[in-house]
Amino acid sequence: MAKKKSILDLYKMKENGEKAVWMVIYDSLFASYAEEAGMDMILCGDSMGMIVYGWQGTVPVTMDMSIAHCQGVRRGAPNTYLIGDMPFGAYHASVEDAVRNAVRFYKEADVDAIKLEGGVAVADKIEAIAKAGMVVFGHIGLTPQSSASMGGFKAQGRTTDSAKAVIEDAIAVWKAGARTLLLEGVPEEVCAYVHKMLPIPVYGIGAGADCDGQVLLAADALGMYKNFTPKFTKKYCDIGAIATHGMSDYIREVKEGAFPAPEHKYKISGDPADFQKLFDEMAPLFEG
Ligand code: KIV
Repeated sequence: MAKKKSILDLYKMKENGEKAVWMVIYDSLFASYAEEAGMDMILCGDSMGMIVYGWQGTVPVTMDMSIAHCQGVRRGAPNTYLIGDMPFGAYHASVEDAVRNAVRFYKEADVDAIKLEGGVAVADKIEAIAKAGMVVFGHIGLTPQSSASMGGFKAQGRTTDSAKAVIEDAIAVWKAGARTLLLEGVPEEVCAYVHKMLPIPVYGIGAGADCDGQVLLAADALGMYKNFTPKFTKKYCDIGAIATHGMSDYIREVKEGAFPAPEHKYKISGDPADFQKLFDEMAPLFEG
């Protein structure tokens, strides 16, 4: 079994030009498959709001939900670098809130790092969490928690004005003490520039290939989420189709009486005649 990575390993990977691969996963079962496959990192993301809970966005996700899901992921993947995702409202009101909630992830869910969305606007929170000794992953560009103010899930940095704001956010996150940066939904040129200029690992989702690694949602990459498919995702297999197929077979077999078959049944131990005698004796008890 591979040794669990540390933040230093992520820096070594960057130095060696080895891409880091992470996936967004919310439960123990899929986490165990990710660990078996050799995933470098797992993000227990607040996209659980859409994928697991069926909301339109990530805003309703709470700290308690995030912690419970992170705990499941940790149990399923005890040797994989785990990032807890600070949900909306967990770090917006005050620096104290930000540190207290980051500490909860560390103490209650045994995470290796926490991620929070935003640049200049949350630099004070990043700084406080980092100063408290925790590893912070920044996340800028298309930040789903603020999609309402962006007018939807829209790529950022496509104009020079917008690219300037993304670059300013990247600098603020780095200067505040984030140890890595995730860029979401930005043109490859903008990501490549930030990657070239920053000394910390820069990862991308929908940000092109010129960075230190990639993250995808398992629900997208494994073909499970049907409501919306971002342009930047790739489907590596179709678990959704396999699941629908398996479920239809199950429904049909039960209705036809083909399931359960003899091999799925427990056998009585003892003389069948004794059981018949017992059933006959107990039958009066069922009389109304
Ligand atoms: O919650 C999430 O899935 C994320 C990814 C988009 C990186 O933050």
